[in-house]
Amino acid sequence: MTLPWDFAPLHGERVTLDLLRPDDLEPLYAMQSDPDVCRYLLYEARSREKVVEVLARDAAATRLAEVGDYLQPAIRDEHGRFVGTMYFHLTSVDDRTAEIGWILAPHAQGNGYASEAARLLLALGFDTLGLHRVYAELDPRNEASVALCRRLGMRHESAILEHMWLKGEWTDTGGYGILEREWAARRSPAG
Ligand SMILES: CC(C)(COP(=O)(O)OP(=O)(O)OC[C@H]1O[C@@H](n2cnc3c(N)ncnc32)[C@H](O)[C@@H]1OP(=O)(O)O)[C@@H](O)C(=O)NCCC(=O)NCCS
Repeated sequence: MTLPWDFAPLHGERVTLDLLRPDDLEPLYAMQSDPDVCRYLLYEARSREKVVEVLARDAAATRLAEVGDYLQPAIRDEHGRFVGTMYFHLTSVDDRTAEIGWILAPHAQGNGYASEAARLLLALGFDTLGLHRVYAELDPRNEASVALCRRLGMRHESAILEHMWLKGEWTDTGGYGILEREWAARRSPAG
């Protein structure tokens, strides 16, 4: 793998992935305190104090060098406005594996922003870092997230039933993944 990788903004056709900044607090708080946004996340809607804490923590996550390192960049639209966050977590160096995740503010959903942002991180992972596999874990009832995985070419890999007591109920986790050869095939003219 090509490590370390120090954060540099990633530019797509419409979206840019950029580090979180102090002035992202209001839109980040609006998003992370929204119960609908948090419905299928591992955490409950967050307080302002909690969002202040996670913004500082995540803005400082700027380097991928070893297992456990992560990025939580802001997704900004073509006008530079905050529309959500991505998650990219180096889960194994030996197996060249990372986890990916996404959250969009409600007003920004339905525009393809998360798809474009995810492709930027898949390109970073496979083309720049030399990953072998990227996976996502989600609540299978989260249809928008399942659809996003499929749009990205991620295969359904696993279904773990009722392994987690979360938000007052037993909750399943679905796994989706894409390998470097699958990513390459999608990028080739034939793919
Ligand atoms: C999961 C989540 C990020 C998906 O957001 P999304 O906007 O549906 O995903 P995309 O960015 O890929 O956008 C795809 C949608 O935009 C539409 N779209 C509009 N213009 C588009 C364009 N130019 N390019 C691509 N898609 C476009 C697509 O048709 C699709 O809509 P559809 O599902 O009605 O067919 C969002 O639902 C969310 O933030 N949920 C709450 C947090 C959450 O649960 N996160 C995941 C935890 S596992």
